[in-house]
Amino acid sequence: MQTARLAHSDHKAGPAIMTIESCQVLDLPKIHDPRGNLTFVEGNTHVPFAIERVYYLYDVPGGSERGGHAHRQLHQFIIAMSGSFDVLLDDGQDKKRVHLSRSYNGLYVCPMIWRELDNFSSGSVCMVLASTKYDEADYYRDYPTFMRARWS
Ligand code: TYD
Repeated sequence: MQTARLAHSDHKAGPAIMTIESCQVLDLPKIHDPRGNLTFVEGNTHVPFAIERVYYLYDVPGGSERGGHAHRQLHQFIIAMSGSFDVLLDDGQDKKRVHLSRSYNGLYVCPMIWRELDNFSSGSVCMVLASTKYDEADYYRDYPTFMRARWS
């Protein structure tokens, strides 16, 4: 686990380090309470970007796969709000699979990383915090095009 501070300084170092090494599971604050625990997320504090958008995946049928794309500029933070799933990250050179199953941490994904989500447990909810509003022009949806961009 790392803190957002470490990932933030990575991010500030520039696009040259946009590899899966920059994509880390970050712990979030957790307020323990016998009435029920509480976690919160503040942009530029707990995640290394300002939060402009939130979306979530739910009612995911067993065996489904989501993602299958990369983003040119977008920073994201992926949280398993309920249940669990895997995120496969690919920077064009290296790959890693991250299992998310806790609502008090999440996976930071920097720009220019191909990602796929699978292995969703029944009833799982995947919440994504994003650095910009939805913009289809920011997507690479074709893997060979993404690979050419990574290696150009
Ligand atoms: P997509 O990002 O491809 O979903 P996933 O990566 O989870 O498989 O988005 C699926 C559809 O939803 C696509 O038609 C675009 C639309 N969409 C929005 O309109 N706004 C959003 O914020 C997101 C994430 C998707």
